This record gives sequence, structure tokens and C-alpha cells, in this order.
Amino acid sequence: MCGIVGYIGTEDAKEILLNGLEKLEYRGYDSAGIAVANEQGVHVFKEKGRIAALRNVVDTNVETTVGIGHTRWATHGVPSRINAHPHQSETARFTLVHNGVIENYEQLKTDYLAGVELQSETDTEIIVQLVDRFVNDGETVEGAFSHTLSLLKGSYAIALLDNQNADLVYVGKNKSPLLIGVGEGVNVIASDAMAMLQVTNQFVEIMDKEVVLVTRDEITIKQLDGTVMTRSPYTAELDASDIEKGTYPHFMLKEIDEQPFVIRNIIQKYQNEDGSVRLDEDIRGAMKSSDRIYIIAAGTSYHAGLVGKQLIEKIAQRPVEVHIASEFLYNMPLLSENPLFIFISQSGETADLRGVLVEVKEKGYKALTITNVPGSTLSREADFTLHTYAGPEIAVASTKAYTAQMAVMTLLAVDTANARGIELDFDPIQELGIVASAMETLCDQKEKLEQIARDYLSITRNCFFIGRAADYFVCLEGALKLKEISYIQAEGFAGGELKHGTIALLKTALQSLRLRHKSM
Ligand code: M6R
Repeated sequence: MCGIVGYIGTEDAKEILLNGLEKLEYRGYDSAGIAVANEQGVHVFKEKGRIAALRNVVDTNVETTVGIGHTRWATHGVPSRINAHPHQSETARFTLVHNGVIENYEQLKTDYLAGVELQSETDTEIIVQLVDRFVNDGETVEGAFSHTLSLLKGSYAIALLDNQNADLVYVGKNKSPLLIGVGEGVNVIASDAMAMLQVTNQFVEIMDKEVVLVTRDEITIKQLDGTVMTRSPYTAELDASDIEKGTYPHFMLKEIDEQPFVIRNIIQKYQNEDGSVRLDEDIRGAMKSSDRIYIIAAGTSYHAGLVGKQLIEKIAQRPVEVHIASEFLYNMPLLSENPLFIFISQSGETADLRGVLVEVKEKGYKALTITNVPGSTLSREADFTLHTYAGPEIAVASTKAYTAQMAVMTLLAVDTANARGIELDFDPIQELGIVASAMETLCDQKEKLEQIARDYLSITRNCFFIGRAADYFVCLEGALKLKEISYIQAEGFAGGELKHGTIALLKTALQSLRLRHKSM
């Protein structure tokens, strides 16, 4: 996933932008760049590869307090310095960074940019060339920027610099996340608040199809038709120290170890003084009154949703369906009369979920988002949010967010059962406490687990996870995780399904193991 940062203040913009990009590194990228402005114009530095490589090409002598930056994950055109952002218009007047995908870029090129020699293979370059074209045609820069955005089909988060005005950054977004951070005499732009916590923890949301003019002292939010919007900042509940990996070799290991604390944190956040479970009254009402719950999620969160279905059906006795977000709109099931949609998403930004949420809201249905990022798009646009309180999950491979999602769904199921007058024969808070302790015991056995992994993986590169009931869903997640972090072929199976074909693979695997053992 690409990342955007921007800064306009009084400090050295280069260092702040580079630090910000480093905070976004965990999202993955193949190249990175920054553009900084001063009275001499705009200076662009970009490089294929790591931010460390970009640091080597940034001219430290350029004095600047304004700039934009980007980490790119190639969609159009190979990873290269030329395709890396920022991109400049033909006249070099405008410089731009962009996240997202412009679906109609070829059409726009044909319609408006005949004769313009493009430098890169990206869809992004079209945007900056269009702004330049419209300004050349006599429009103001703001008018040309809005005009350009109104022509784009697809997703975008954009920041633009004009080399004739180093005191203003133009920003716009549609479907891709983007926030403006506000401070005293300084404002910042970020696709993820974490990138700019070094400057501020006060952020303003931008809605789709809005344009924002950002100066040091002011932000002006407008709709594409020019209507000015007012919006107050919120405080990002993040701690900069949460995103340091301390003595851990990598974030995933740190986050695996954090799981017991996360579960205990969730218990604390959702517990009354008398030890009972406490959820928002409105969520309780929505869960109680709906006749069927539809869980929508992707990847790991989908696997958590499958466990959530079991929890809600067993504990609260409400029927639940679980759907893969990217499939839902193509294979929409028959909906019940009074459905409640639950969106499970660590990031709260997954585009396939957003697509379903938009559709569901259009139909007038209620939606609850279970997320680790309360200010995220899915959280803002749903009717209700349940926070998973896992702290920032930096590793791409989800661990603590997954277990936190299941813990929160346990409490949701319990609260719904209470609301429906169902008596429970267990104490959920006590049970979650036991889970947290069991996690601790497991986390303490890393050496043993590592040895088991080494024993097996020295003799095979295939792995089947086999389980029944909720364990089957955990097997699906185990297989996903192993594939994702080791590139080992792994599949999860329901125990009873093994005999229907898959067993043939097991026999082959066993034979090759035997042969290997004999030859040892
Ligand atoms: O942020 P989300 O939970 O919506 O992300 C959905 C998936 O991309 C995510 O769960 C993915 O499968 C995991 N990061 C894999 O470990």
C-alpha cells in the first residue's frame, strides 16, 4: 500500500518527510521520493528501493519548510526511479504525489493530453499534467486542481505543489485514506496518522471528493463545487512509542508477545465496576433488534469473523452469515428483513469492505465496524464502532489484531446474550483472563516452537492444518500466516474433509518423508 506525507511549517521539511516515510515503511513499498519547495522552486528527490537509498540522494543543502513525500507500491509501471513519485508536469511547474488507482487515465490522456510527452508509465502522471494543461488554458490553480479531480474515476489521495507558490499545498481525496494534521503555525498531511505523530496528534478528516488548501496557519476544506466545509480536529489516540520495535528483531514478534496485554486491555475497556460486560447501548440495541447478522471482512479478519459467527450463534443465539468482502457485491445473498452488518477490519481502510459499506448504507441498513483504528474510514462511515484496543499493528502479518477481534466479538456475543435475557454458564471476563495467561505461556515457549518448526521444515515444504469446528477456522488462519511469512505452501482443512481428495496429497507427502528418512 502506498503512503503519503506532507509538511508546511517552520522546521526542516526534508527530515520530517523522511522520518514520516520511515513510519510508513511497514506498509511495504518499492520506491520512495520527496519534493520540497523554497523560493528557488521545487526540488524533487526520488529513488528505487529503501528510504535509506532515498536519504543518500537528498541534497541536505536545500533549505525548505514545505514538502510532500511518497512511498510507492507499483501498480502501473515497474518499480523504478522514473516511476517513483513525486511526478512533475511537462513545464515542471506542478509536482504531485498520489495513492490509489486512476481507472480512466488512458481515456484522459487521449482526451486532454495529446502532444504531451509523458515521462513515466504511471497513471499518476496524467493528474499532474492535467492540472498544468488547465492552468495553461487560463484556469486558476485551485480551479484547475478541482477540475482535474472532477474528471478522475477511481481512487486517489493527492498532494500537489506549485513552484510559483511555496506557501500552499493542494490536497484532495476519493476512496483512499488521507488526513490533515493541525498544529500552531504548522500543518501536515498523512495517509496514516502514525507518520506525522512526530508533529501533532490533532487530525482533521477529509471526505471523498473534497479539496483542501493547506498553508502554515490555515486549512480550507471545500467540496468540488467550491462549498466551504468546517470540521473540528480529533485527537489520534496513538502513542509514538507504540510504533517503536524496541529490542525486538521485527514488529511481528513484538506484536505476538503483546497479545496477553491486549486481551487484558480489552477486558478493562469493556468491563463494568461490578465485573460485568459493558458495551455501548446503541450497539446492544442494534444487535438485539436485528434478525440476522452479516459479517463482512477480508483475509485474517475474515477468519476472525468465522470464529465470531460461532461465538454469536452459540452465546447470543442470533443467526450470523460471514462473507468475504470482495465477493459480497458479486454474490449478494438474500438479505433478511432487518439485517445488521458488522465490518471487521484491523486498519478500517480495506477498499473491498468500504465498497460493501457504501452499498449497505445506500440501502438504509445499520452497520457496526470492529476495528483497531477508530478514526478510520470504515469507523467514520458506519453507525457504530467497537475498538479492538490492540495498539498499532505495524507488521503486515496480522497477529494481535486477529486475537483482539475475536476477544471483542466474544464480549459482543455476551452483551447481546445479556440483552436477550440468556443466562450464561460461564464468566466471560474470567475466561478471557485465562486465555491471556495461556497466551503468555505459549509466548514463553518460543525456543521449543522454533525447534518444532525447524524439525518439520527441514523435511517438507508443504503443510496442512487440520481442525474441527472453531479450530477449523483457526487452521485457515494458521495456513494463511505460514504462507504469508514463509512462502511455504500451506492449507487449512476441516478434519472430515480430508478424506475427500486431500488425503492423496498426504500419502504422497508421507511417502517422500519415509524415503527421506531411509536415506538418512
Ligand atoms: O485491515 P484489514 O483487517 O481490513 O485487512 C484485511 C486483510 O488484508 C488482512 O487481514 C490480511 O489478511 C492480514 N494482514 C494478513 O496477515
